[in-house]
Parts: sequence; structure tokens; C-alpha cells
Amino acid sequence: MTTTDLPASLISTLPGHYYIDAAVFALEQTRIFETMWFCAVRSADLPTPGKFRKVQVGRESVLIVRSRDGQLRAFLNICRHRGAQICTDDSGEVKRAFQCPYHAWTYDLEGKLIAAPNLTKMPDIDRVQYGLVPVHLREWLGYAWVSLAKEPPSFENDVMGAITVGRTVFVNLVPEHVIFHRMFPVAVDRTIVECDWLYTREVVESGKDVSRSVELFHRVNEQDFEACERTQPAMSSRAYANGGVLVPSEHHIGEFHDWLTQRLSD
Ligand code: FES
Repeated sequence: MTTTDLPASLISTLPGHYYIDAAVFALEQTRIFETMWFCAVRSADLPTPGKFRKVQVGRESVLIVRSRDGQLRAFLNICRHRGAQICTDDSGEVKRAFQCPYHAWTYDLEGKLIAAPNLTKMPDIDRVQYGLVPVHLREWLGYAWVSLAKEPPSFENDVMGAITVGRTVFVNLVPEHVIFHRMFPVAVDRTIVECDWLYTREVVESGKDVSRSVELFHRVNEQDFEACERTQPAMSSRAYANGGVLVPSEHHIGEFHDWLTQRLSD
């Protein structure tokens, strides 16, 4: 049955291959996650200079660090010497600098090359030019957003315009708190989800026990993850070759599918 054969109350989903095809995943990486603004870390998780997180953005490993001037900065996690990954830990703290474990090229928290064996014998090296490759970073709503694009899209339009937020993160608004999901696609069939429960200042300062409301949405998350894990293997089935259908209460998901196919065909 094709889309045109569907009764008016049904909209077709994406066909199954969208969820298993490495070529589609590669397009998603390049045209979405490496192009748009990507919500990477919670700013408060990096409170002091030297604290860092390593996150996967599209195909790139990105280091986000609180530098000495108090700003958050982002860099590609790649040594400029021979390309070793600088950090393999997902998070941590360095004192003053990142040192590559391979031959000890060392970069300060602003990314500048500050030491390397025999660096003084290479006076023609521009230490900023051979520093860590910077990545665009903006802070908003207590989160650091990064963009790998050479010229990132307008942050104001693409992120602050709430519509796009719904495409790269999930936000659930409930009384007294917000539940904020960030998603890190790491393989065609695997995504890591990080979820934060953000309470109003009044709730935090009152010392109120929030464990029940956390527990409640934690259960919702677990049910959703289970549903995804149950559905993912079916994407390669011939039963789903043309996709499934969205019932009226799900029609809004069709808008996301339209947006996605448009992005991938641009
Ligand atoms: S690859 Fe990093 S110092 Fe050589």
C-alpha cells in the first residue's frame, strides 16, 4: 500500500530503511548533527576551570572545557601533531592544560599549543594555528550548544525559536520542573540519551523531596527506551519495508518526518 492509498486518518511513517541504513545515518550526521546547533552539556556540570566533558557530535569527538577566564570553550578532541585523541575519558578535570599522551604536545584551556618536545627548536610554529581546532559554542538555558559548521546557522532562529529545540532535544514542561533530554546518536541503531530534571529555584531552595517526581519520569523514560529497543530490530523486517502508519493523535510526528526528509535531501 502506498501513501496515496491510505485512508485520510492515517499518515505513513518513514520506511524501515531510514532506521537501519548506514548511508541514511551518514547523511543525518553530516546534514543535521554536524551542521545544526547541538545541545552538548549542562553548563553547571563544568563549574570550575579545567573541568571537561567529551561528547560525540556527529562523527566528531568534541572536548568542552571551562577555561581560565570562566568561559566554556569547545575543541575537536584531536592532537594537531599526529592526530591522537587527547582525552579518552568521558569527563574529568585537568589542572592547567591538556597533554596528548602520544608525544606530549600540550594545549592550554584556550586551546593554544603551549609545550611540545623541542618546541623551541621550531620557532616558526604559530602556537594558536597549531592549537586545538575550536568549535563554535553558545550558552543558553544553562546548556552549552555547539556547532561544527564553518558558519553556523543563526542561533536565535534555529535554537531560541522553540520549534527547533523539539528537533534536537526533547523538553517536557511539567509543574515546578522541566525534563530535558539530550540525544547522542553513536551508531545507526544506537543513541545515548541523557536526561536532566530541572527544578525551579524555589523548589531547590525549599529542600523539597523531589525523588517521587524524578522516579515518575524515570519510569516513563524506561518504558520509552524499552519500546524503542523492541521496535528497532523490526525496522529491517519486510513487514516494515514501506513503514507503518501514524494515527490522528500521532500526526504531528509526520511533521518531524517531513522536516527530516527535507534536511536529508537538501
Ligand atoms: S599525536 Fe599528540 S603529541 Fe603526537
